[in-house]
Amino acid sequence: MPASVIVGLQWGDEGKGKTTDFLAEQVAMVVRYQGGDNAGHTIVIGEDTFKLHLVPSGVLYGHITPVIGPGVVVNPATLLREFDELTARGIDVSHVRVSHAASLILPYHVALDKAREAALGGAKVGTTGRGIGPAYEDRAARTGLRVEDLIDPASAATRLARALPEKRALLKALNAEDAAAVDADAIAKQIAAWGERLRPDTTDLVQRALAAGEHLLFEGAQGTLLDLSHGSYPYVTSSHPIAGGAATGGGIAPMQIDEVMGVMKAYATRVGSGPFVTELTDAIGERITTTGHEVGTTTGRRRRVGWNDALPLRYAVQLNGVSSIMLNKLDVLSGIPEILLCVAYEIDGKRVERWPSSTAEMERATPIYERFPGWSEPIHQVRALADLPENARRYVTALEEIAGAPIVLLSVGPERTQTIERAWRPMRRATKRA
Ligand code: IMP
Repeated sequence: MPASVIVGLQWGDEGKGKTTDFLAEQVAMVVRYQGGDNAGHTIVIGEDTFKLHLVPSGVLYGHITPVIGPGVVVNPATLLREFDELTARGIDVSHVRVSHAASLILPYHVALDKAREAALGGAKVGTTGRGIGPAYEDRAARTGLRVEDLIDPASAATRLARALPEKRALLKALNAEDAAAVDADAIAKQIAAWGERLRPDTTDLVQRALAAGEHLLFEGAQGTLLDLSHGSYPYVTSSHPIAGGAATGGGIAPMQIDEVMGVMKAYATRVGSGPFVTELTDAIGERITTTGHEVGTTTGRRRRVGWNDALPLRYAVQLNGVSSIMLNKLDVLSGIPEILLCVAYEIDGKRVERWPSSTAEMERATPIYERFPGWSEPIHQVRALADLPENARRYVTALEEIAGAPIVLLSVGPERTQTIERAWRPMRRATKRA
C-alpha cells in the first residue's frame, strides 16, 4: 500500500504541481492535506496551462480520485468556481471528494484576515488575504463550521448564531465593520446553495484506498519554511505543510507513508514578509524573477527571489524525512555568470551552520557564500544528467551533497516532458533516510 508525500522544501512555489503531475500516472488518489485557496499550483500540459488553488492537481487525470482532506480549509465559493472553470475546459470534476471534517472559510474569515493585516501595518505577515488564519483559529477554538454543515442547515444556523456576535465585535475593534461579511441570513443562504452542489465524504476514504492496495499521493501546499510550528514564525501560514501534516491532515498513519519527495527550486523565492537571508535585490534577482515568471499564482504578487540556502535546505530535508528530491527550474539559471550558494550565516560575528530557530536571529544574519561558475547554454532540451553542462552538474551535485538526499527528478522547463529522470525507485520505502 504505497503512499508518497510531496512536500515543499522552501517557502512554497517550488513547483509541486509539476511534481504531482509527473507522478500522477502511477497513482489512484491525490490527497490535499492542508492549506486552502492560498495555494496556487500551475500545471502545463502541452498548450494548456491550469492554475489550481483548491482542487488537487490529480483532477486533470480521469483515473485519479482527487481528495480534499480533513486538514484543509475550504472556501466553497472558490472551490465551486474552480469546478465551473475546469468543467468549461472539459475536465470532469465529478470524482473530486471533500472530507466532511474540512473546515469552511466564510466571508467573515476573509474580512478578519484583511482587517488584521491592515492593523499590523508595517509588521504585517503578508498573507494572501484568503481568510486562512482566521478559519484555522476557529477550528482550534471549536467554533468553526465544517463541510458536513453544508448539508445540515439547522446545525449550520446554530453554529453561525454562536459565532457571529464575536466576529462582529472583532471586526468592530479592528475598525473594519463589514455588514455583508457577518450577515447571518446571507451566509445561511450561501451555505444552502453550496450544500446543493458539495457533498461531504468521510476520512475513511483514504484508509479504504490504502487497504485496497492503491497508490496514494499526499500533496502539500506552501512549504516547510512556512510551517506554523517549524517555519519563521510569525511569518508563516496557519497549517502544517511538512510531511507530518499529511498524517493529521490527510488521515494516514506515519508508518503508512512510504516515501517523502521534497521539491525545491534551483534558487529560492518567498512571497510575503519575513526574513530571507539570501534575498537578491539587484539585476540578477530581477533577471531570475523575469525568466522564472516569479509572480504569485494566487495573489499576482511579485515573489522575492534569492540564492539557494544550505541551512534551511538541510533542516527541511531532516524535518520531513525526505527520501528523494525533485529540483525544479534549473533552466532559469542558464546564462548567469556566477551562481552563489549560501553555506553558513554570520550572526553577531559568529559563523552559524544550522538554521536558527529564532526569526530575530535570522533577521541579523548575513550569508556566507560558496561560488559556482555558471553555464551559458540553454538546457531546455537536455533529458539526461550527463548531457547537462559541466558547471550545471557541479551545482546540482553540491545541492545534493548539502541536502543529503538524492535528486531524482530535475526540471529544465515547465512542461512535463522537460524533465531529467535519474534512476530511482518511485513509491518504495527508502532504505536509508537522510
Ligand atoms: P496565508 O497562508 O494567506 O495566511 O499567508 C501566510 C504567509 O504564507 C504569507 O507570507 C503568504 O505569502 C504565504 N503563502 C501562503 N500561501 C502561499 C503559497 O501557496 N505560496 C507561497 N507563499 C504562500
